[in-house]
Amino acid sequence: MSLFRREREIITRNEYVDHFDFDEIEEFVRNASKELFISHRFKTSDAMQVQPRGGFPTYEKVFRLYEEFKAAGVDILPLTIDSNTRLNDYATARKMLALSEENDVDMLNGYPLINHGYRTTRKMITHFDTPVSLRHGTPDARLLVEMALASGIFEIEGGPITYLLPYSKNFPLDKAFLYWKYVEKVCALYSEYNEPINRESFGPLSATLQPPVIVIVIQIIEMLLSLEEGVKSFSVSFSQSGSMIQDVVTANVLMKLSRRYADMFGFHDADIHLVYHQWMGAFPYNKEYSDALITASTVIAAMVGADKIITKTRNEAFGIPTKEANARAVASVKYTLGMLQGLPKVRDEEEEENLTNMVDEIMEAVLNDPADTLWRKVFNAIKRGHIEIPFSPHIINANEVITIRDPNRNIRILERGKLPISDRSFAYERSKIALKEGERVVDKIIKDIGIML
Ligand code: 5AD
Repeated sequence: MSLFRREREIITRNEYVDHFDFDEIEEFVRNASKELFISHRFKTSDAMQVQPRGGFPTYEKVFRLYEEFKAAGVDILPLTIDSNTRLNDYATARKMLALSEENDVDMLNGYPLINHGYRTTRKMITHFDTPVSLRHGTPDARLLVEMALASGIFEIEGGPITYLLPYSKNFPLDKAFLYWKYVEKVCALYSEYNEPINRESFGPLSATLQPPVIVIVIQIIEMLLSLEEGVKSFSVSFSQSGSMIQDVVTANVLMKLSRRYADMFGFHDADIHLVYHQWMGAFPYNKEYSDALITASTVIAAMVGADKIITKTRNEAFGIPTKEANARAVASVKYTLGMLQGLPKVRDEEEEENLTNMVDEIMEAVLNDPADTLWRKVFNAIKRGHIEIPFSPHIINANEVITIRDPNRNIRILERGKLPISDRSFAYERSKIALKEGERVVDKIIKDIGIML
């Protein structure tokens, strides 16, 4: 037995898991319907794929949620995992699932996939015969991803940086890299059996005044770490920034450079897709405004040529949406997209040039690190503050970069901290900022975070 297989046996064997039948799972994946693979959908459809978020503790409630989504014309179904499972606390998840089943109240904020198991969950996934995307936020997702793939969930979100720095304070970064390497290897292995498993990075990061250069650098790095292990289908992503033109610039540079770096590393056969997240910051309490925000965001997704859009709902400011509100948002986004065929390609060459330069400058510093593997180079870059995520709670994050909006609402770098961007690029960023006489930076930041309220 290979060492990797031994490792998988160990990961999938614990008191919360029924026996993993690897041979049966391989057979299932080999014979699985092509309709379950988003990688196949991307190949066969030009339409922007619409995907909400959603997950409830019980099987029955997720089943009814999926029925509601299907009736609304959903393209990709989500499976959002509860927070206890995300933190590998399967004991609490089990207790809360039992309470939810007994009392018809939701005691979890998502679906505890480990406790339900793959044999049960697969019945639902194959019944709907629609691609399902795993939405979690788990630094150690080894067992979760094994369970998802065995269930017929063939898109896996996350990555060692994007599911750690925005989500965790103390979980060790080096462990996250190694645990995600395992995830990539399993995804690559299953990609050989049928259509490719699609991996998706989480570009919104902390969703708080994120400078596009950081988002793009991290998207490229997570893509490379994934392709290195043999993954063939990858989605880079980012979320609505609050500036339409900045989103257009970000998308253009993100797609251009993702392809360029993938090719530079020899991954010519990898498919790269673009995912756009509707506004991930604080939502207005006014539901009409929420609807307006969601519609505007849909227009931008069309402008940037996204392959998939991830939707929000008018309930966002209040908590987890009901299945009805969630499905209505899907139907409304589909309706808006129907009006947006054949848009012209917009660009801003000066902005694209400066953003491209900044990404290349940081990537050069990362790749020049003497460490022997990419993940170690990146690990060192984060320790040094060459890469950092504004508003990350993680203890390893440098927290020196300060960003604010310019008069056109573009997010700009006011303090570069230890980011290895050139004086020239930085001067361009600074030249766009216009603080009012006597305006305090901290007050401006608070306003700039809350622009949609
Ligand atoms: N069902 C639907 N949406 C969810 N979100 C988190 N958990 C769930 C769930 N169980 C959404 C939040 C936010 C985003 C990060 O995920 O409302 O929009």
